[in-house]
Amino acid sequence: MKITLKDSTERFKEKFKISGEQTKKCSEVIPGGYSRHTFDYGPHAIFVERGEGQYIFTIDGHRLLDFNNNFTVNVLGHAHPKIASALSEAIAIGWSFGNPIKYEFQLAQMICERIEAVERVKFSCSASESCISAVRIARANTGKNKIAKFEGGYHGFLDDLAISTHPSFDRLPGPAKKPLPLPDSAGIPNNTLENMILLPQNDLESCEKILRENAHDLACVMMELQAVAGGIIVLDREFVHGIRAITQELGILMIVDETITLRAGYHGLQGIYDVKPDLVVMGKIIGGGLPLGAVGGRKEYFDMVESGQISLSGTHHGHPLATRAGIACLDVMDEAAFDRLNGLADRIKNELNGWAEENNFPFQVYGAFSCLGYAFTDKPGRELKTHRDLMTYINGEHLQTFALEMATRGFFPVHRGQLSLSVPMTDEDIDGFITTSKDIIEGMLEK
Ligand SMILES: Cc1ncc(COP(=O)(O)O)c(C=O)c1O
Repeated sequence: MKITLKDSTERFKEKFKISGEQTKKCSEVIPGGYSRHTFDYGPHAIFVERGEGQYIFTIDGHRLLDFNNNFTVNVLGHAHPKIASALSEAIAIGWSFGNPIKYEFQLAQMICERIEAVERVKFSCSASESCISAVRIARANTGKNKIAKFEGGYHGFLDDLAISTHPSFDRLPGPAKKPLPLPDSAGIPNNTLENMILLPQNDLESCEKILRENAHDLACVMMELQAVAGGIIVLDREFVHGIRAITQELGILMIVDETITLRAGYHGLQGIYDVKPDLVVMGKIIGGGLPLGAVGGRKEYFDMVESGQISLSGTHHGHPLATRAGIACLDVMDEAAFDRLNGLADRIKNELNGWAEENNFPFQVYGAFSCLGYAFTDKPGRELKTHRDLMTYINGEHLQTFALEMATRGFFPVHRGQLSLSVPMTDEDIDGFITTSKDIIEGMLEK
């Protein structure tokens, strides 16, 4: 029987009925039912009771193989014993001090050892804060004001950067070669937009023109090497190296936001691209599942931080529990662990893409490393090189149907078309995911 959005929605609501009721109840005190609107999974969120390894267990009594993993944070899955015992140790000695504690230093050392561009690190509680910290460091060091970012890039929810993450299908301002900024939210002041220069992904010629025109007052280019939260777009290697060369020439700091992409490899995605940015933003896996962000970079950019001219300081920055969990997480994530995880992701990509090609289905898995995108497009083999490609060619109804259907069959992808893998996943888990995906896609695309 053909799988439709209507039927899948009904099946989903039935299977996750308690979660639906809970969403309603929570809305009485929390607008929308929960603090992160990204929990929405179509009709409502799926409330979780607990997590273990590669699984979450929902309040409706179902076990789901978790391909969300807190939006890429949980590279070790849930309740990993090494992180759990590190946290128990940290809790036993107290977890909130008006003094420094060794964990922060140990984690900073681990990061500096892995990421060549990072010689100094400052921690915060979230990558949103660390993105803003990176911009402040760039502005202070260059004496310039403006920020450039990519249309479709996400760098947190704070005013200066919450711009043009998801300009919607019907609101794509400016030409593709020179996009114009749009705030992600009501309440962002208009003058924030005046400081923002937008760039198009994978179009070096246009980027060079825009950067040259604005170089006199442009402090930094903020970028992901693979955009994720705004929609997965992989940047071409030559494009990234081109941006590096132009920013270097024009005295603009290149900030690479590795909040998600740090899970690509031992040296981050910048290690795989072999590119050395001026500043690096980190988050997600470095806190082992606790709230932690960091900004790092060349020592000289942090001299003004050291002297106190640049102020970066918050009550919970470098929190003992988060840094301790981060150390435990990175300890497990050695080169072999990254390789194995990326190998599982490659299997999903290669097997589903080969099958879709054989069957001429307009479906593809794309992206690199253990954070993949999947898409239903207007035609088989459609190239997705920019955010506007996603907005133009992706079939949103199919994405939604697939996500709902997957959840009813025991899998939990990110409903907007992303997969994030975890170390406890087995080959059998991946087999199950591939087989189920094929079954659903065939049902959906049946004539
Ligand atoms: C690339 C990137 N930068 C920054 C952030 C913001 O991180 P946080 O939610 O920890 O503030 C995110 C979150 O998804 C992200 O993906």
